[in-house]
Amino acid sequence: MKILNIGSLNIDYVYTVPHFVRPGETLSSTAMEVFCGGKGLNQSIALARAGLEVYHAGFIGEEGGLLAQNLADNGVDVSLIQPCAEKSGHTIIQVDAAGQNCILLYGGANRRITEEYIDKALAAFSAGDMLLLQNEVNLVNSMIRKAKARGMRVAVNPAPMSPDMLLAPLDLVDMLFLNEVEAADLCGEVDPQLQIPALRARYPNVTLVLTLGEQGALYQAPGGETFRQGIYPVTVVDTTAAGDTFIAYLLAGLEVNNDIPQCLRLAAMAAALTVSRKGAAASIPRMEEVRECLCS
Ligand code: RIB
Repeated sequence: MKILNIGSLNIDYVYTVPHFVRPGETLSSTAMEVFCGGKGLNQSIALARAGLEVYHAGFIGEEGGLLAQNLADNGVDVSLIQPCAEKSGHTIIQVDAAGQNCILLYGGANRRITEEYIDKALAAFSAGDMLLLQNEVNLVNSMIRKAKARGMRVAVNPAPMSPDMLLAPLDLVDMLFLNEVEAADLCGEVDPQLQIPALRARYPNVTLVLTLGEQGALYQAPGGETFRQGIYPVTVVDTTAAGDTFIAYLLAGLEVNNDIPQCLRLAAMAAALTVSRKGAAASIPRMEEVRECLCS
């Protein structure tokens, strides 16, 4: 199976702060680093590090060459990535003393995708291949419809949530990856225990995966079979890209293995390793390391 990820490519400017800046406050950061990121790029790198054949599509500005290079260095096919006359997507990320983050996002080039570009990107993919999407690029709804019309499987992580995502044809997709906030926006329930039944009523044929931070994750197949996975406790350095890593490793696990609890453990361990390090893509482990940690 080939995976096409039409996804964001961001330059992350990461500031270490004692606490998140408050309204009206000027706060000195104690460190500043620049990382390759974007939910799209992070998920592509995690898929490649987990051993899958990954194709990344999307737009970058003239300063975004490092993003395509970073993907290529990780074995991702970047032949579909195009330059455009816009700033590359970028973020300002604050990481506080507890390793939690908050992110200010500028979509930039990520939001320049056109219908013609989608057709071109999908042209080399067909039934059996997968399209992976997040919500940091434009025209996601059209991508879902076009990929399903080609017989592709579609996995969607509708992050960050936006009003137009509420109208997206998510009932057509094969897998939905949501955190509690995204799930609450989609189904109107805030209690994770109530979210799964509410989402199930709305999306009867979709495999649902809820990532619940310190509470771990819930997986439910369309038939109702449900699995819960806890977290592997680690010292939290930076939570950026933990969700991206979990998604990619779960998809990678499921490609070769029908044992869902085992795939969930793989994804949880990969995410734990990611939060124990700084940065987005830079913090994502390779499959060998994840397997070693699971065995030890
Ligand atoms: O999921 C983490 C990512 O979200 C960061 O790399 C940042 O670019 C934002 O898109």
